[in-house]
Amino acid sequence: MTMADQQAPVTTMPRIGDPAPTFTASTTQGEINFPADYAGQWVILFSHPADFTPVCTTEFMTFASLADEFRAYNTQLVGLSVDGLYSHIAWLRTIQDKIEFNNMKNVEVKFPLIDDVSMAVAQKYGMIMPGEDSTKAVRAVFVIDPQGVIRTIIYYPLSMGRNFDEIMRVIKALQTADAFSVATPADWRPGDRVIVPPAGSCGTAKDRMDGKEDGVECEDWFFCTKAISAEDVEKAIRKA
Ligand code: BEZ
Repeated sequence: MTMADQQAPVTTMPRIGDPAPTFTASTTQGEINFPADYAGQWVILFSHPADFTPVCTTEFMTFASLADEFRAYNTQLVGLSVDGLYSHIAWLRTIQDKIEFNNMKNVEVKFPLIDDVSMAVAQKYGMIMPGEDSTKAVRAVFVIDPQGVIRTIIYYPLSMGRNFDEIMRVIKALQTADAFSVATPADWRPGDRVIVPPAGSCGTAKDRMDGKEDGVECEDWFFCTKAISAEDVEKAIRKA
């Protein structure tokens, strides 16, 4: 086998900044027209490998338990696997009736779970990664903004359950960046200092360095931060 033979096949996948690929699908909550049905809201579109599997079960229980908290940040959840509707319904009923995990029990999943037996949506979103498994979706997370633009993509392999603190942090960080026209540094959480964009129309780099911009502190011309309190962040982004 030559080196060229060993290379991974070229597949197209949506990227950060692209409009979310459109589709219509049957879900456990009825038909959806995506992303049009979610205009004006943030959406987390996520895939899981298969119904009736343990890691996916823990993830669904966690997503469902956090659904109200996501909704408070104007964020809706939409799940997907390449299983059919009857499997989805039976699995979600089993979770509600029988499964206890991390002090969660009788968990009702109220957000839509897409039937994607044809793999049409999973293929469109690059959720099938044949090197990992050609018949199951990996654990993909697409964060889509109220304008229908993909803002963050996270992938996890089949063996690893997602980190929900991080998914919530992503929602808060993206919304904070939009609300205050700032960027968020490594490991940022509400209340931490934020990065202010390079000096331009609002003042010169020298003004900034000289401390003439309110609350802005610079380590160097390219590295300036300011404080935004956790309360101000919450006031700006929490909707309920
Ligand atoms: C799980 O969710 O437990 C799982 C699903 C597919 C492969 C491995 C684990």
